[in-house]
Amino acid sequence: MRSEDFKYLSDDEIYLDSACQTLRPEPVVAALNEYYYEYNSCGERVKYAWGEKVDELVEDTREQVLRFLKLSSREYFTSFTLNTTYGINLILNQLKADGIKQVITTDIEHNSPFIGTIAFARKHDLPRVVLEREPDGSINLDEANFDSALVVVNTNSNIDGRPLGNIREVVKKVHKQGGIIIIDAAQSMAHYHQNLEKLDADAICFSAHKMYSASLGVMVAKRSLVKRINPTFIGGGMVDDVALDSYQLSANSPDHVYTIFEAGLQAWGEIIALGEAISWLTEVEKKSELHDLAEQLHAFLAAQPKVHVTNKQPSTTMAFYYDGLDSHLLAKALSDAGIMARSGYFCCHYYLDHVMHYPPLVRFSLGHHNTQADIDKAKEVLEKVFN
Ligand SMILES: Cc1ncc(COP(=O)(O)O)c(C=O)c1O
Repeated sequence: MRSEDFKYLSDDEIYLDSACQTLRPEPVVAALNEYYYEYNSCGERVKYAWGEKVDELVEDTREQVLRFLKLSSREYFTSFTLNTTYGINLILNQLKADGIKQVITTDIEHNSPFIGTIAFARKHDLPRVVLEREPDGSINLDEANFDSALVVVNTNSNIDGRPLGNIREVVKKVHKQGGIIIIDAAQSMAHYHQNLEKLDADAICFSAHKMYSASLGVMVAKRSLVKRINPTFIGGGMVDDVALDSYQLSANSPDHVYTIFEAGLQAWGEIIALGEAISWLTEVEKKSELHDLAEQLHAFLAAQPKVHVTNKQPSTTMAFYYDGLDSHLLAKALSDAGIMARSGYFCCHYYLDHVMHYPPLVRFSLGHHNTQADIDKAKEVLEKVFN
C-alpha cells in the first residue's frame, strides 16, 4: 500500500527519480501552505506576530538540522541557501586561501564539487588532485596525502549511492594534516544520514529538495570556519550597522553567526517546511521497507544477462546500461509505461564518460513513496523491454 502521505500519486505513476528531487509528502506541503496562507511574513526583521512565529519556527529548523546530524550548536551552525551547489560555491568562493597548499576532490563527484574545485584551484593558482575512489566508494588512506588541503567530497554518490564508508578516518586524517574538509551530503541526507552523525567535518552542504522537503539549500558549518571566510556575497540581513565605507557583520555575534552565508531575504516557508520534513523522515524511516525494495530491484538488474549495473552494493540509487540499447530510448520506453527514471551521465561526466567510458546510463532512485507494486511493475516492464 502507498503511504497516505503520497496519496496524490496514482498507481500508474511510478516515480524513480528521488536522487534528483524526492516527492514531497503531504505534511510537508501542508506546512508550506500553512506558512503561505496563515502567517506569510518576513523573518528576523519584523515585530508583528506573524513574523515572530516565523522567527520561532526558523530557529527550530536550524536546531532540528543539527539534532538530526547529532551535532552541537556550540560547535556548529545552520545556514540556508538555494541548493547544494550554492552552498559549496558560497564556501569555495569566499574561503581565504592562506595556508591551503592543494585542493582535493575525487573522481566520482557530482559536477558541483568537481567543477567548483577546478575554479578554486585556478583562482588561487593551487594544484588540484583528483583521488580515485575505491570500488566500494572509500578513499585509500595509505595513498592519500592531505597536507594543508582543501578537500571536497561526497558521502554518497548520485550515480549509484556508493558510500564514503571511511569518512570518519578521512576527516581525521585531513585535520591531522592541517586541511579543511567540506562534505557534499546531497545524496546522504534522505536515506544515509547516519554516516554523517557527529562527523567532525568543517562544513556539510545538502539540498532539502532531496530529503522530502521544499526546494532549499542547507549548510551546516563549524563556527571556527567563519574566521576563514572573507564575505564578498553580501547584503541585507548580514549586518548590524553600516557607515559610509564600512559595515559591521552580524556574524560577529555568536547568536547570528549563520548570517555569514545568508545574504538577503530567505525562503522562510521552505525553511519551516524542512523542519516538518525532518520530523516526518525521522518517523517514517523507523518502519520503512525502502531498503528492501531497493535490494529487490538491484538484485533483479544484476541478474539480467546484458545489463551492466554500476553498483557494487545495493542502494536506493542504482545505475545501469543494457548492451546495445540506447539508455535515453529505454528511459522513454519506461516513461510510456508510467515509470519515471533518469538517463544520461547525471552531472558526473568526468567519471562516467572520461574515466569509465560508459555509454549514457539509466538511473533508478527510490524514495519512501515507492511500494512493492511499483517495484513489481518496474521489473515486469523491464523484462518486456529486455526481451
Ligand atoms: C552528490 C550531489 N552533489 C551535488 C548535487 C547538486 O545538488 P543541487 O542541484 O540541489 O545543488 C547533486 C544533485 O543531484 C548531487 O547528487
